[in-house]
Amino acid sequence: MRFAAAIIPLFISAIIVFVAHEIAQPPASLRPKIFVIGLSKTGTSSIGDALALLQYKRLGWKDIRSRHLVHTWANGDYSALIDQTRYFDAFEDLPWPYMYRQMAEMYPDAKFLLSLRKDERTWLESMRRHVGRGSWQGYRYFYGATEVDGHEDVVLQSYTNHTDEVRAYFQDKPDRYAELVIDDGDRNWEVLCRLAECPEGRVPSIPFPKSNTAAHWQQGALIDNLHFMWSWSITRIEELSAESYYKGGWSIVNGLLDVSWSLVSVIEQACSELYYKMMIATAEPLEFKAVL
Ligand SMILES: *[C@@H]1O[C@H](CO)[C@@H](O)[C@H](O)[C@H]1NC(C)=O
Repeated sequence: MRFAAAIIPLFISAIIVFVAHEIAQPPASLRPKIFVIGLSKTGTSSIGDALALLQYKRLGWKDIRSRHLVHTWANGDYSALIDQTRYFDAFEDLPWPYMYRQMAEMYPDAKFLLSLRKDERTWLESMRRHVGRGSWQGYRYFYGATEVDGHEDVVLQSYTNHTDEVRAYFQDKPDRYAELVIDDGDRNWEVLCRLAECPEGRVPSIPFPKSNTAAHWQQGALIDNLHFMWSWSITRIEELSAESYYKGGWSIVNGLLDVSWSLVSVIEQACSELYYKMMIATAEPLEFKAVL
């Protein structure tokens, strides 16, 4: 009994150390990074899927660590975000839209894509449906409120302000920047290929992805379902711990949460590396056509 009590934690630690050192490591080389810096409901996951089809290694909201990156970002600590940039070459969804200044300085060859909707009303209504489902604490940091109803003005301002600020920042960096209106559909391949690596003068001859096609995660039902259960559990824990995180909280609770997130991070990074390798190995070659 006592032997088992000693050997099991040792065994688990050994597995975690092995996973951390052998699987969850940054890839040997990455392409110049692309940051998708549009806000929620501007098609960021579709664009992430499009980049994944172009075999970019993408970090998005489906990666469970995004929740933690928002916590740390909200507390003014960018170290976890900066650490994540070592592993990926495409970034989308919160909190990346608010990191463009730091990322533009840190990665001089990185490119930035501002995703937008065809008009502000369309965006607001889309947000109303999306945010309406629950009240995720994090929204307050980005949109000034956790729901749209009754807060239309401030939520809309967060969108127009973000658009204005991004445009002003990239005004003198036109070769690092593009804007994409997600409602434009297949034409968006041309915009994306202005920043991303596509064969010269050509774009993929498939439809531009539509939200939740999730190319990155469709690697077999079993792995998909396991990952879904894993994300679901971590999200519930995130919700329980969010109060403590956002409000400064008790240092002992936050310390324990930090340790747990480090553990989650190793596992998630290992999944992410394995997914990416599988995707590269099993992907059908993408066909390209000339831009008319
Ligand atoms: C938007 O910008 C204006 C002008 O700088 C500022 O007064 C306002 O508080 C900002 N709104 C939000 C939601 O950030």
